[in-house]
Amino acid sequence: MIELQEKIQQTAEFIQGKGVTDVEFGLILGSGLGELAEEIQEPVVISYNDIPHFPVSTVVGHAGQLVYGSLSGRKVLAMQGRFHYYEGNPMETVTYPVRVMAALGIHSVVVTNAAGGVNLDFTPGNLMLIQDHINFMGTNPLIGPNDENMGPRFPDMSAAYDGAYQEKAREVAKKLELDLKEGVYMGFTGPTYETPAEIRMARTLGADAVGMSTVPEVIVAVHNGMNVLGISCITNLAAGMQANLNHEEVVETTERVKEDFKTLIKETLAVL
Ligand code: HPA
Repeated sequence: MIELQEKIQQTAEFIQGKGVTDVEFGLILGSGLGELAEEIQEPVVISYNDIPHFPVSTVVGHAGQLVYGSLSGRKVLAMQGRFHYYEGNPMETVTYPVRVMAALGIHSVVVTNAAGGVNLDFTPGNLMLIQDHINFMGTNPLIGPNDENMGPRFPDMSAAYDGAYQEKAREVAKKLELDLKEGVYMGFTGPTYETPAEIRMARTLGADAVGMSTVPEVIVAVHNGMNVLGISCITNLAAGMQANLNHEEVVETTERVKEDFKTLIKETLAVL
């Protein structure tokens, strides 16, 4: 069996062979938020299917490709579509692209997602700056032998979401007169939406939003010493706070707020 490090290296070399060089920022675009990648200038598009050792994405609303180029004057590599734990992927697979980003020399990742609003002050369509997270997935992507070349055995999660990046996003939102909410993202495995009782628990535990992604990727980004900026799109009120939940509403809301979302990310990228 090829070692993980070797696979990552092969994947990174393949991507570099497509002309992907000097990337500064990785963008992980969540459900319905992939359109941002269409604004990347002089794009190099690589389908996940063509990338050695890369997993295949199965969720509707995810294009399943990498897009490289410049956005707001920064060299970025965007993932249109991510890998979820609920698809049956092991955590190593869910976080594989982040490892590859690190191998490509990327120093920062912008992670985005669709999330359910738990905070009573949130409404669907709000954007939320992620200040911190609660890993409620019942596992951790770093379980297993630790490769010291990648990062430490016991990574410090005290400032997983870079404070300076948060401040920049706040300043940009203010300039844009955009009502940027802030809070704690709690990661569940899915694929079920939560029950109303689970949402009451989440609120009691300090969550402002819930979702089925992001947490593993951020843990691995921190392990690799990368800076993280996280933005959630609150697509619905969480279970028990509205009549029922469905994926169509999630997609509709991202569609409705995508212009604000794109502007916030682009303007923030320019000043990071
Ligand atoms: N719960 C979990 N994940 C989600 C939600 C939700 O309410 N909305 C969008 N993704």
